[in-house]
Amino acid sequence: MSNSVLNIGLAGLGRLGRHYARYLARTVNRAHLHAVCSPVEDDLQWASDTLAVPKTYHDFSEMLADPAIDAVFLVTPTSLHPAQIREALAAGKHVFCEKPLSLEVEACQATVDYARALQGPRAMVGFVRHFDASYQDAMARIRDGVIGHPFIVYSQTADLTDPTGAFVKFAPRSGGLFLDCSVHDIDLARWLLGRPKARRVYATGTIARFQELAAIGDIDNGMAICEFEGGQMAMFYASRTQSHGHDTHTDVIGTQGKLSIGRNPRQDRLEIADVHGVRALSTQDFFARFGDAFRVQSQHFVDAILDGTPFDLELEDAAEATRIAVALRQSQQTGQAVEL
Ligand SMILES: NC(=O)c1ccc[n+]([C@@H]2O[C@H](COP(=O)([O-])OP(=O)(O)OC[C@H]3O[C@@H](n4cnc5c(N)ncnc54)[C@H](O)[C@@H]3O)[C@@H](O)[C@H]2O)c1
Repeated sequence: MSNSVLNIGLAGLGRLGRHYARYLARTVNRAHLHAVCSPVEDDLQWASDTLAVPKTYHDFSEMLADPAIDAVFLVTPTSLHPAQIREALAAGKHVFCEKPLSLEVEACQATVDYARALQGPRAMVGFVRHFDASYQDAMARIRDGVIGHPFIVYSQTADLTDPTGAFVKFAPRSGGLFLDCSVHDIDLARWLLGRPKARRVYATGTIARFQELAAIGDIDNGMAICEFEGGQMAMFYASRTQSHGHDTHTDVIGTQGKLSIGRNPRQDRLEIADVHGVRALSTQDFFARFGDAFRVQSQHFVDAILDGTPFDLELEDAAEATRIAVALRQSQQTGQAVEL
């Protein structure tokens, strides 16, 4: 590997993978999108036609055998992440993997142990909100002591209602609302509070609209409280039924102040005044809110590999996020607090 360019093979060209492909092919410095992999022929055709990617593979193992590839990006279904991370590391490739690391606590730990024992190529799980400019700013101010000792985080991930209910089809493979959505807030809370481990959680939830979720034990709105070792706390809200837009925000309360990130989910700086009053439009989906952060996150990975600098996110943190999210689901389903 020359330290001037990182040759990348990207697996998964679905809803999110195509965004990564565009960034890696066109925008991320010192990245070269050498190959893509998907079992779907249409995906591969799209990558050849739109981005002129030199190599396309239907099979992940075949892509890994390509000696030109230095690193792989995994934007594949979550159930595949642990096995694909291990296979890629064994093939000597560095790995960037989309969140979550796994839906299973044991698979997370096995992957962490495997990567640690290998001590060769490096792996990172992406939690995109770390790389959003406003969250970065908040973290810098916490490190500067602006709000004193941070001890409470409130964080929410709330999606615009999809009246077609298309997400219900994907829900059985998502691990449920807390694993799919709150996992972001869990990871953020631990980061902003100095990476404490969870001690006890309590969660509850309801179905406000999508009654089909009851058959698979899932919910469309959930609330949770997490107590950390050392006394810090977090509260999470997740929803699939917002009528105004994608509304993701976080508050951090410290002994000397409070930071709020993204509190008003306005789309831009436009304000409309008319017979209905004065209003702004809302952000509609996660990519409209965090699109640029996916680019910054990809750049962070490429720079860390080429320059030998540390990742901002450790695999252990991704494992802890799954451990907490699984406990939230258990608490919501049993009605009992879960000790961790
Ligand atoms: N950070 C975020 O906010 C965010 C948002 C959306 C999705 N995600 C994560 O990204 C991942 C992908 O989600 P998505 O919504 O793009 O899913 P998707 O189902 O739209 O796309 C998955 C892609 O993987 C391909 N694929 C399936 N099996 C494969 C294999 N063995 N090898 C290579 N490719 C294979 C599919 O053909 C498809 O192109 C998930 O882990 C999800 O949790 C994160």
